[in-house]
Amino acid sequence: PDIADRSDVVLGFDSIDGAKLDAVVVPEGYSAQVLAPWGTPLNSLAREWQEDGSNSAIDQQNAVGMHHDGMHFFPLNGSAEDGLLCINHEYIDQSVLHPNGATLDDKKLRIDVDEVRKEINAHGITVVRVQLVNDVWQVIKDDAYNRRITGASVIDLSGPLSFSPYLETPFSPDGSQARGTLNNCGNGYTPWGTYLTCEENWPGYFANNGILPEDQQRIGISETKTRYGWDDLAGDGEERSDEFGRFNVTASGASGSDDYRNEANGHGYIVELDPYKPNSRAVKRTALGRFRHEGCVFGKLVEGQPVVFYSGHDSRFEYLYKFVSAALWDSADAEPYDRLSTGAKYMDAGTLYVAKFTEGGIGEWLPLSLDGKTTDGGILADSFDSLAAMILNTAGAADLVGATPMDRPEWCAVDPFGGSVYLTLTNNNKRVESNAANPRVDNKFGHIIRWDEGANATEFSWDIFLFGAPADGDEAVNRSGLTELNQLASPDGLAFDQRGIMWVQTDNGASAVSDHTNDQMLAIVPSAMVNSQDQQAVVSGDNQDQLKRFFVGPNGCEVTGFAMTSEYTSVFANIQHPGNWPYSNDATEQTPVGMTLRPRDATVVIRKMDGGEVGV
Ligand code: FEO
Ligand code: CA
Ligand code: CA
Ligand code: CA
Repeated sequence: PDIADRSDVVLGFDSIDGAKLDAVVVPEGYSAQVLAPWGTPLNSLAREWQEDGSNSAIDQQNAVGMHHDGMHFFPLNGSAEDGLLCINHEYIDQSVLHPNGATLDDKKLRIDVDEVRKEINAHGITVVRVQLVNDVWQVIKDDAYNRRITGASVIDLSGPLSFSPYLETPFSPDGSQARGTLNNCGNGYTPWGTYLTCEENWPGYFANNGILPEDQQRIGISETKTRYGWDDLAGDGEERSDEFGRFNVTASGASGSDDYRNEANGHGYIVELDPYKPNSRAVKRTALGRFRHEGCVFGKLVEGQPVVFYSGHDSRFEYLYKFVSAALWDSADAEPYDRLSTGAKYMDAGTLYVAKFTEGGIGEWLPLSLDGKTTDGGILADSFDSLAAMILNTAGAADLVGATPMDRPEWCAVDPFGGSVYLTLTNNNKRVESNAANPRVDNKFGHIIRWDEGANATEFSWDIFLFGAPADGDEAVNRSGLTELNQLASPDGLAFDQRGIMWVQTDNGASAVSDHTNDQMLAIVPSAMVNSQDQQAVVSGDNQDQLKRFFVGPNGCEVTGFAMTSEYTSVFANIQHPGNWPYSNDATEQTPVGMTLRPRDATVVIRKMDGGEVGV
């Protein structure tokens, strides 16, 4: 990769100290404001957010959702001060969402059906118009672009699984639609101007009290109960309601209006949304595989070559995938007449691959096609009778071809210069046997791996870029030589800006680091890929100046989701599940000691006080 293209990029701020405050911290000369916190009305159908948690399900359907995660800024008319923010809402905290939540024990949290509807509506995606007005970013209420996609919205299905028997449900007898998107974690966007949201820990929302089909066993659908007990409200017999009954996917034995056995099959995908077309439905692109998608990022675009997407499956010992489009990239599609048709062109047909990492920095993409070779000398067609059946159990197919089990693949990011791809492997405290790409057993602190594509679609070369670690760890632990000023653990969110600065966000539970700092965002100017397998990351020693802590979140939170305006003047990052924050619109203002707030997930906008480019 041509790392030299950015040799003049220097991080122009002083790395900040770790912090453990009910406030965010940014470098000197920067400001941070709270934008679009959970419950912010998008239109006049929603009441203002109530401090006592009393907002209704209808309010929530028309307001910003909970637990902000992945995010992207879509400019309007190319503006750096006016655009649409798409925000994922990963999950909910029932004890914060409901009025009684903070005081009653778990079993008494909810009092009625409206609260369950509110929970479903707090999931999904927000599209919201935001503008910089008098130096403050504002949500434009009642804007025509504003909308919510929730856990109950109707969503189209496309690609190999659409119209297959696996997706036939009482709601969609032809298997063309699913209801809702759940656990939207990381995100992506496309070269043609759409948003991608990724369905991550969706299996937890379904239960099967009968005999689990193979794909449900493999992905871990519960045999007993669902994550939030939505199906508890389904009722029995004649009273059984589709609204909540669909979360229990036990085969009833009879095909009828309450046979929800295929409901979970409509989840686990990359979902494409056109933010610029408020009346369009979102589309689940099944060709990109079905698993716990953390994120989705497109690879370096080359005219006349396929478009490539990378996506990690975030769970211990799961895999890294790439999708290679059948259609070849035509740069005229960057300004398409119809964005979702362009999405269909590049995302509905192609080949899915899973990664195998070998010693010596050698990597191989193993095809997940019916003629893909399995480790027992056969082919995937021996186990799956159609592409739809194989995609339904993508992880099971990946097992058969011999993919490398990783330490929880989270976000990918693509270097805008050379096209190297970086992947966060957040942690894996269950690893007892190392492999080349996951060299630390009991990997509490995580690492970042990267690769370059090879001469053909199945080859790549890789190295380990950075090891998370506490500054006081010994050499075996602190392999990247991190200091007090940049120690980090459990890298998760990851993004490049167009200047070639990589932004790393953490979701850390390891006390050796969290005793010193809350979750954070750091900036890195990567140095050349050395393809070295000495397990000595390349950000070390002389490169400390190019790995700096830029932002620290408030107590209890995770920092996740990254977006930036075109002129690099505003950076958006999300604070998910803060403990006792935000106190005011100034994200850096500390909640007074002794005051307990109903916490609100929120986007934070970071700007330079002089209006200049962030980071340099
Ligand atoms: Fe939702 Fe893997 O983080
Ligand atoms: Ca994550
Ligand atoms: Ca995480
Ligand atoms: Ca999270």
